[in-house]
Amino acid sequence: MAAHDTYSREAMSLKPLAIRTDRLILRKMLFERDMDAFVKMRMDPQVMQFIGMPPVKTLAECRTEAQKKNTNQDFKFFYSIFPKEEDQTMIGLVIMRPMPEGDTMEVGYWLMPPYWGKGYATEAASAVCQACAEAMDFPLIDISAHVMAGNGASRRVLEKVGLEVTRSSSMDVPNGKSVDVWWLNWKEETTR
Ligand SMILES: CC(C)(COP(=O)(O)OP(=O)(O)OC[C@H]1O[C@@H](n2cnc3c(N)ncnc32)[C@H](O)[C@@H]1OP(=O)(O)O)[C@@H](O)C(=O)NCCC(=O)NCCS
Repeated sequence: MAAHDTYSREAMSLKPLAIRTDRLILRKMLFERDMDAFVKMRMDPQVMQFIGMPPVKTLAECRTEAQKKNTNQDFKFFYSIFPKEEDQTMIGLVIMRPMPEGDTMEVGYWLMPPYWGKGYATEAASAVCQACAEAMDFPLIDISAHVMAGNGASRRVLEKVGLEVTRSSSMDVPNGKSVDVWWLNWKEETTR
């Protein structure tokens, strides 16, 4: 973990703009191209179960929220995931961004349920960690993540990518509730 304010959301930008893996192409998210797929995931209770954001009730509300996020540059650090075989179909996203404290780079991801269980999240997150660390010039050891306790699949993905749980705590989420969270950091001996 680096010193506070080492990484800044204002000063940094996502690099590279596209990443290819065996089965996937990750492209920097484009609001006009990708928002319908984002909204679909944001409204899916299965996808949102462990995200800690309050449910969005209507399509209009969700689109308004996405528009606001776009204006606030919240999507600046998002990759959209496309399978190579269906290049026009966005199936999920990977986030790589500075944590608010600026001491680590946070990795996160969402996939549409029909694509779960195929190793896609591991393949996408692993590639993003490696490519961004190199292109954005930060060490893998500065990558972190947090997962709502109970989200065993996400914890497993992160462990396969090269992180480990270092602590747990409770965290306040936007709906006024508090949830238990696992905090993960890059495992020192993991070099891949
Ligand atoms: C979490 C998520 C990204 C996983 O995507 P995925 O493509 O299915 O993940 P992968 O196939 O790469 O790997 C899943 C691993 O978790 C394991 N797993 C699945 N369900 C599990 C569970 N309930 N508990 C523990 N492990 C589980 C799988 O067996 C697999 O491990 P293995 O390869 O050792 O067998 C997907 O479920 C998702 O998008 N969920 C909604 C959004 C979300 O919660 N994002 C994470 C926020 S921190």
